[in-house]
Amino acid sequence: MEKVVKQSRMTESLVDFYSKKRVLITGHTGFKGAWLCLWLKHMGADVCGYSLDVPSNPALFEAAHVADGMTSIQGDLRDFALLKKSLQAFQPEIVVHMAAQSLVRRSFIDPVETYSTNVMGTVHLFEAVRQTPSVRAVVNVTSDKCYENREWVWGYRETDPMGGYDPYSSSKGCSELVTSAYLRSYFHPDAYEDHGVSLASARAGNVIGGGDFAEDRLIPDMVRAFMKKDAVHIRSPHAIRPWQHVLDPLSGYLMLAQRLYVDGPQFGGGWNFGPSDHSELEVGQVVERFASFWGEGANWSLADGHHPHEAGLLKLDCSKARSRLKWAPGLDAHQALAWTAKWYKAFEENQKGMGELSRAQVRQYEGLCI
Ligand SMILES: NC(=O)c1ccc[n+]([C@@H]2O[C@H](COP(=O)([O-])OP(=O)(O)OC[C@H]3O[C@@H](n4cnc5c(N)ncnc54)[C@H](O)[C@@H]3O)[C@@H](O)[C@H]2O)c1
Repeated sequence: MEKVVKQSRMTESLVDFYSKKRVLITGHTGFKGAWLCLWLKHMGADVCGYSLDVPSNPALFEAAHVADGMTSIQGDLRDFALLKKSLQAFQPEIVVHMAAQSLVRRSFIDPVETYSTNVMGTVHLFEAVRQTPSVRAVVNVTSDKCYENREWVWGYRETDPMGGYDPYSSSKGCSELVTSAYLRSYFHPDAYEDHGVSLASARAGNVIGGGDFAEDRLIPDMVRAFMKKDAVHIRSPHAIRPWQHVLDPLSGYLMLAQRLYVDGPQFGGGWNFGPSDHSELEVGQVVERFASFWGEGANWSLADGHHPHEAGLLKLDCSKARSRLKWAPGLDAHQALAWTAKWYKAFEENQKGMGELSRAQVRQYEGLCI
C-alpha cells in the first residue's frame, strides 16, 4: 500500500515535470525508444528523435505512428556533424541515449558496427552535448550486461566492475567507462556551475512488451511463429532469466532524468533498474505462459544445434533506485506477459492501428504503477 501511495505522488509530478520539456531521444525508432516517445508525448513533452531507420519490419515505431507529433531525424550516431547539428537545432533540455546495435548475436557477426555505434556513438553524443548549452540532464541507457558476469547468485551493484564476454556486452561496459570518464573530465559535479550538465547511466536487463520485432529475442520469435501457425524452436528452456515489462525501466529513466534536471549532479553515475526476484522464470515457463495467453496457433519445440555463448543469470541489485528515486518495478512477470500478449494479438488483427492500444497501456501503467 505504501508503495502505491508514494508512487502516485510521483506520477503527478512526472507528468507535470515533462509537460513542455524539450527531450531528445536517440534510438527513437527502436523498441524502447518508440515506447518512450509515446509516453513523453502523452505527458506533453516536446520530443525529438535521432536514429537510423526502424531496426525491424514490422516495427512499433510504424505500427503506432510514433513519428506523429514529434520531430524525427534519421541519422547515424557515427555522423558527428549531423548529430551535433541536430542537437544544436533542437536545443534539448534532457537527452536519453538509447540508440545502439542492441543484439548479442549480431555483435558476434559484426563487432565493428557494434563497437563503433555503441562506444564511439556515445562519445559523439557526449561531445555534441558539450557543445549544446541547453542540455541539463543526460541518461545513457546501457545494459545489465555491462557488468563483469561472475556467474554468482547475488545482485550486481552499481559499484561492481564493468566487463562483458561478447562484443555487445563489452561495448556496453565500454559505454559505461566512457560515461564515467566524461563525468570526471567534463561534467564533474564540482564544476557543475560551469558546465551545467548532470550525467547518469541506466542499467536494465531484457525487457518485454508489445511491438518488439527484433531477431533472436524470445517473445518476437514466438510471435512470428505463432502468427504463421508454426512451432517455435526454443533454445535453453531451463535457463532462468528476469522478465520485465518495457514500461518499468522506462519509468526509471524518466524519474532519473527528472532528478538530474531538478536536483543536479548528486543523481549522476550508474543506476540499476531490474525486476523483482519473483519475476525470474525459466525460458520454458515463459513460453508456456505466453502460449496460453495467445491461445490457438501457439506451439513450441526444443531447438538443436550449437548456439553462441550465453551468460548465466545476471541479477541487478536495485536498492539504490528504490531508496533514492523511490522507483520500483510496477508489473510482475505474469502481468508483463499478459500485457505483451494482448498487444501482439491486437497487432495480428490490425497491423497499423496500434497507437491507441499502446497509449492505453501507458495510461494503464500510470494508473496502476505510478
Ligand atoms: N530490449 C532489451 O531487452 C534491452 C535490454 C538491455 C538494454 N537495452 C538497451 O536499450 C536500448 C534500446 O534497446 P531496444 O531494444 O529499443 O533496441 P532496438 O534494436 O529496438 O533499437 C535500437 C535503436 O538504435 C538505432 N540505431 C542503431 N544503430 C544506430 C546508429 N549507428 N546510429 C543511430 N541510431 C542507431 C536504431 O535505428 C533503433 O532506433 C539499447 O541501448 C539497448 O542496448 C535493451
